[in-house]
Amino acid sequence: MNSVRRRELEYHEKLYSGFAQSHFARPAVRALRRHMVDRIRELTGASPESRVLSLGCGIGDTELLLAPHVAELTGVDLSPAAIRQARADAGALAIRNARFEEGGIGGIAEGRYDIVIAIFFLHHLPDDELAALPHRLKDILAPGGVFYSLDPSRHRLSGAVGRLLIPNLMKKYQTADERELEPAATAELFRRAGLDARVEIYDFGSSPLAGLFPGWAAGYRMARAMDDRLLRVPLLRRRGSNFELIVRT
Ligand SMILES: C[S@@+](CC[C@H](N)C(=O)[O-])C[C@H]1O[C@@H](n2cnc3c(N)ncnc32)[C@H](O)[C@@H]1O
Repeated sequence: MNSVRRRELEYHEKLYSGFAQSHFARPAVRALRRHMVDRIRELTGASPESRVLSLGCGIGDTELLLAPHVAELTGVDLSPAAIRQARADAGALAIRNARFEEGGIGGIAEGRYDIVIAIFFLHHLPDDELAALPHRLKDILAPGGVFYSLDPSRHRLSGAVGRLLIPNLMKKYQTADERELEPAATAELFRRAGLDARVEIYDFGSSPLAGLFPGWAAGYRMARAMDDRLLRVPLLRRRGSNFELIVRT
């Protein structure tokens, strides 16, 4: 295992030993996850026939909300603690079309998936693995398949403000190797592999607010409604927090 992966594993094993489970169960974070799932369904066209793969699925809280809307869902993650939790939650919720496996993109069957999602995952990959991913995706996706990712943007205003006001908290929630990504340059990696990639901006302040005030669901919903207006302003859109890639074969 390379050193980045070892550090990622160590950090996430700790994160998933209790904190993530309780933080992600809070009302504002749940509301954010529901919004993400609606967005994934809208942008990928996920349907009851879709076979979905999630890369870096963590404890599967987004995936278990998505599973009832698709034919089958597979989540993979480096962290055994995450996979244990995802399996336990799938069992407790009696969700039978989702399975969770330890690992990465290496051992995935070819041509199997209509949709591949990666939520807050790409920015954890080292540059060489990120550059290789689009080529691997071409093998994994079925003809006409779609890839959807969501990651922090290097241009986000919330990141600059956070580093200024709450630098220690920001560090606590980040691994040593993750970094914000440049949206256009990331899309270009997929285009260079012969894929059709477009960028959307997901949010401005609503997701950071859910992270800071996880118990305040009404606050999240207000901020989300405000984001939908703010993101129509080109300058604010450019300084949005997280960007989406929608990639088609
Ligand atoms: C920021 S977390 C996001 C988890 C989840 N998608 C979510 O939205 O909460 C990044 C995840 O990627 C996983 N990860 C990091 N590098 C990986 C790799 N090379 N292969 C598979 N999973 C990896 C970590 O274990 C972690 O669960």
